[in-house]
Amino acid sequence: MNVLVVGGGGREHALVWKIRQSPLVKRVVCAPGNPGIAEIADVEPIAAEDLPGQLELARRFSADLVVVGPEAPLCDGLTDLLVSAGFRVFGPSKTAAEIEGDKAFARDLCRKERIASPQYWVFDDLRQAESFFEGREEGPLVVKASGLAAGKGVTVAANKKEALAAVRECLVDGRFGDSGARVVLEEKLEGPEVSSIALTDGKTLIPLEPARDHKPVFDGDEGPNTGGMGAISPPRSVPPKILEQIEQSVLLPSIHGMNSASRSFTGFLYAGLMLTAQGPKVLEFNCRMGDPETQPLMMRLKSDLVPLLLGAADGDLASCDAPEWDPRPAVCVVACAPGYPGSYPKGLHIDGIDELETGPDLQVFHAGTGRRGGDLVTAGGRVLSVCALGTDLEDARARAYGALEGIRFEGKHFRTDIGYLG
Ligand code: AMP
Ligand code: GLY
Repeated sequence: MNVLVVGGGGREHALVWKIRQSPLVKRVVCAPGNPGIAEIADVEPIAAEDLPGQLELARRFSADLVVVGPEAPLCDGLTDLLVSAGFRVFGPSKTAAEIEGDKAFARDLCRKERIASPQYWVFDDLRQAESFFEGREEGPLVVKASGLAAGKGVTVAANKKEALAAVRECLVDGRFGDSGARVVLEEKLEGPEVSSIALTDGKTLIPLEPARDHKPVFDGDEGPNTGGMGAISPPRSVPPKILEQIEQSVLLPSIHGMNSASRSFTGFLYAGLMLTAQGPKVLEFNCRMGDPETQPLMMRLKSDLVPLLLGAADGDLASCDAPEWDPRPAVCVVACAPGYPGSYPKGLHIDGIDELETGPDLQVFHAGTGRRGGDLVTAGGRVLSVCALGTDLEDARARAYGALEGIRFEGKHFRTDIGYLG
């Protein structure tokens, strides 16, 4: 069969890498893809957000299955457009994708379904927010733009002054455009984080192995949030009892709540959780796989991904075999352009990838890379990630960091503690 994968980041590189290994698949095309993906599949220069362009490509390529990677086209309704044109699509509809695209909606869903989450307040007016702060004791708060903000719309504020400044950035300065026209304020929780991702067709749920990502840009989880600086799977300390609790009291009730709201969810449902002293609580939902969590998860997945994608797209996940996992842990480290997540230069030469001995236990997944002439150059903030399996976390860390050392570009920066924490 022919599979179209929409997107062009590290997540899509890892998905294409895995899908290509399926005996069910004849051809894979990825749009827009990236130079790493171009080495293992066809790529077409059509932006993920170009909905008519993606539909035209699905037709031209006679896609038997379309897998949509990023949140923006899902929230814009790419699945609905393709399904109405007769394509088989893995990914939620526009209204279901609002579980990520509208944080206020996601918080209301948690309240209705009694899913443990922080206390929250929603504002779209600065004056209301100011009077909320006046009546509140001093202390930390989390401020979130309600709409999509590429992982950068969250401020963990140490006090009321910082929180109000973040609210102003959203409501007055328009830092996140329409996405920040509403803000969600949340009680600040404490504890280790876990990314719990499941495949679902809206009826059956198949949880993947747990993962953990690190969003802050600097070691020790310091500095502003990014899309993700690295990920591991499995995280160090998530006992099976907690995973069972997450499935029963977070994932299943959310599927149920989405059905009750006539927004049946198909695709990867991602719950970002904090393991607090009172148990797991939901920080966010995403309507897709995590980036970079996908990279270690795809390296650990031993069985074929494609029957699961087809089963979910066809509403028949109940008849699929459970996935098999490599028990070895995987560590993924992201290398960024200098300045990211602020402004950064592009077009820096990248050397050293071809000299690495890659294989099933070590992969370099491209994200913000491009070609200038024949040369590989940087073309984005998160440039690439190196992902390794190891006998234990220390071994996986050593392999991932060892390989990353051999990849060179000016100002390359990365966290040195991925796999040490949690
Ligand atoms: P989100 O995109 O909502 O997952 O938020 C990004 C990051 O901000 C999370 O991975 C957490 O590290 C942090 N965060 C978000 N919400 C909270 C909260 N209520 N309490 C503490 N930290 C939070
Ligand atoms: N790694 C976090 C995310 O994909 O949203």
